[in-house]
Amino acid sequence: MQHDIDEIRQGLLSAIANSSSPREILKSAALKDMYSVIGTLEPSERAAYGKAVNEVKLALEAAVVAREAELADAAVEPIDITAPWDANSTMPDLMPSETASQHPLTKELEEVVNIFTRMGFEAIESRQIDDDFHMFGALNFPENHPARDGYDTFRTEEGFIPPAHTSTMQHRILKDGLSKLEAGGKIAAISYGRVFRNEDVDATHEHTFYQCEGVFVSRDATLGQMLGTLRSFFEVYYGQKLSIKTQPGYFPFVEPGLEFAIEKPASIGGKPGEWLEMLGCGMIHPNVLKEAGIDPTVYRGFAWGGGVERLVMLKYGIEDLRHFESGKLQFLRKFA
Ligand code: PHE
Repeated sequence: MQHDIDEIRQGLLSAIANSSSPREILKSAALKDMYSVIGTLEPSERAAYGKAVNEVKLALEAAVVAREAELADAAVEPIDITAPWDANSTMPDLMPSETASQHPLTKELEEVVNIFTRMGFEAIESRQIDDDFHMFGALNFPENHPARDGYDTFRTEEGFIPPAHTSTMQHRILKDGLSKLEAGGKIAAISYGRVFRNEDVDATHEHTFYQCEGVFVSRDATLGQMLGTLRSFFEVYYGQKLSIKTQPGYFPFVEPGLEFAIEKPASIGGKPGEWLEMLGCGMIHPNVLKEAGIDPTVYRGFAWGGGVERLVMLKYGIEDLRHFESGKLQFLRKFA
């Protein structure tokens, strides 16, 4: 008799330990059968048997409580938000790719950055809020100089400036690069990003647009190297040989300063002698080098900067600059 009870007890305990609804097992037929046996026993045996069955019942109830606690613990197991995500453990849930596309400016900017990084330039994003020092002071704009007005800068109430050109990054690039020069190397960096001007908006003017800036410094940098670098860039970007030309241009942070133009290629409707001004450039002014701690009697540099939209408009024959910031899907889908 005791043997039967032990067997039933073991069977039920292991069923409880593995069940997700352990309390159900207390209602099992095996347990009820054990009670119904009592009535069939000799009166002298009943007390001992009843006691044994009660012990089994208590053991099973304890097991149910323990199992329920175990299940509750598993259900609220805390998530370790610092754990690395195993990308192989689950199938990524992909968006339907046929509805997505990159903005044409993003795509073209990537192309511009790629060309310059292949030429050995480090690429850094420009800031979208800056100060008077980086916008003007570090770039050799004297206080109250009329050249400051040429930039139509916005200003926050606190006096900060959403940069009106990517040249605001020049001082940082030069200062950070000083150690490279001292170690016998060169500074070669481009900076790209959004710039802001308080302009009346029309087909060729926007208050918000993109620029890309280049800065190069070495012991023997020349204007010729700069023109070679720029020509190579434009020829790779447009995928063909180009004629280039420069004319004097005034920017307080370069001397000499130049405006750089390319002849509009026939393949995109250009006529001979049709020149397009693409950017401003020149040899970095000694005052700008000095301000960043670079000795202008030892090192020379060149810099350039120009709008990205203009490049893209010429490449694809886009007639209105305002399309880029318009969010018009009809326009964007042409580049998908
Ligand atoms: N920052 C100038 C502009 O936006 C362009 C420029 C950059 C000119 C670097 C010379 C050197 O008009």
